[in-house]
Amino acid sequence: MHFHRDDLAGLESRYRAALVNSLTGFKSANLVGTADEHGQTNLAIMSSAVHLGSHPPLIALVIRPDPVERHTLSNLLASGCYTLNHVRAEWLEAAHQTAARYPREQSEFAATGLSEGWWPEFPAPFVREATIRMGLRLREHQELAINRTHLVIGEVTQLELPEDCLREDGSVDLESAGSLALSGLDSYHATRRLRRMAYAKPDRPPRAVEGPAD
Ligand SMILES: Cc1cc2nc3c(=O)[nH]c(=O)nc-3n(C[C@H](O)[C@H](O)[C@H](O)COP(=O)(O)O)c2cc1C
Repeated sequence: MHFHRDDLAGLESRYRAALVNSLTGFKSANLVGTADEHGQTNLAIMSSAVHLGSHPPLIALVIRPDPVERHTLSNLLASGCYTLNHVRAEWLEAAHQTAARYPREQSEFAATGLSEGWWPEFPAPFVREATIRMGLRLREHQELAINRTHLVIGEVTQLELPEDCLREDGSVDLESAGSLALSGLDSYHATRRLRRMAYAKPDRPPRAVEGPAD
């Protein structure tokens, strides 16, 4: 099949959303934790986390515009802080349920049974069940002119993960951590690493640093 611009524009809107949301392939599954100025907590699943830089450690999120209130966005703009929590298979249903539009006064933590954790002096809750969780401070926010989505850039200032998920070279073993991937707006995937590849150089053929995972 070959879709041209007009074909895409002419699709039924839910069908087009499902198709286009799949095009970026597998993405990370994160729960974004925030709190408002009264300490009312909020949790929302997001697939748009993207690495922007390592020094300082920056991660961007794309938050959609909406005619209704966006609790995550308003909380993180007000407090300047939020958490990212990798989703695991044992509680993916609860993680997915955070996409439901709960009223502001109802926390998705209570609604889904996930538990809040707090770091000292950090005004956003993390998910206790998450193996990998991080706290970010808001560094930049742009409302994009093209479609009014919000680009939110944060610096990682807290990072918690089990020592046995951290490799000697600093990379994280995401399979050991049980971190899931997402595709589209509804599919959760367990992953299997095929191999790790050595740093690519023009004068060397591609080489694996480790054999196949199994
Ligand atoms: C799998 C999945 C991925 C999602 N990714 C995003 C995302 O990257 N950005 C976004 O704004 N909303 C995303 N959403 C929608 C939010 O989770 C949903 O709008 C949620 O209700 C927002 O909560 P809030 O109003 O409390 O912030 C996603 C939903 C699902 C099911």
